[in-house]
Amino acid sequence: MRSTKRAGQESDSVRTLAIDIGGSGIKAIVLDASGKPVTTRSRVDTPRPATPDAVLDAIAGLAKAQGEYDRISVGFPGVVRNGVTETAPNLDTEWQGYHLADRLSITLGRPARVANDADVQGFGAIAGHGVELVITLGTGFGSALFVDGRLVPNLELAHHPFRKGKTYEDHLGNPALKKAGKKQWNKRLVKAVLTLEMLFNYDRLYIGGGNAKYIARELSPNVTIVPNLAGLLGGIALWR
Ligand code: BGC
Repeated sequence: MRSTKRAGQESDSVRTLAIDIGGSGIKAIVLDASGKPVTTRSRVDTPRPATPDAVLDAIAGLAKAQGEYDRISVGFPGVVRNGVTETAPNLDTEWQGYHLADRLSITLGRPARVANDADVQGFGAIAGHGVELVITLGTGFGSALFVDGRLVPNLELAHHPFRKGKTYEDHLGNPALKKAGKKQWNKRLVKAVLTLEMLFNYDRLYIGGGNAKYIARELSPNVTIVPNLAGLLGGIALWR
């Protein structure tokens, strides 16, 4: 167990347990004060049903295996306000109004901060200049918007209609990839990127998430594909 530091005394040795809760897997890593990983990433399948109790148990197992840390950052696949989860379309309805930050902090005995998973990915990827949009391709469709490094909160493109009365998530989420196949999914992605560029006029678009590895089409030069690890690395930003 690590010694507790007094406020304002945060030293170079502070360690953050970063957790990324996804619809298919939950991942964990420990970051040093500068945000660099000091452990090897571990992962477990997301339990089904993905109720708060089951997910908390899974996180407790991962946390134990990761060793020592002083504080916890979590990326959550839904809308989060002040540590409370409001939606979780790919987990369970029990997450509505659940104080995840408090519950985790009680379970693991360390302070915890929680943000939307795409927001955390974004913090791990952006340059901090101009208009930067982040989308994540995984079980769901994540989105985050930053202006000069400041997050515009709660952008939920996922459930916004995109084509033929269906949403971005309907067209580009994991079930859609499985159903339509990689070729069709790639075609849709190119269309979605063009639509998003017209809407946001961003300086840069970042695409992350576990399914970004299936991108097989050439995208504009202002698009960067980011490694999925950004979903954990960005956790350090929740303590800035
Ligand atoms: C949720 C978003 C989340 C995304 C990726 C969507 O279904 O509404 O909040 O960021 O999935 O997990």
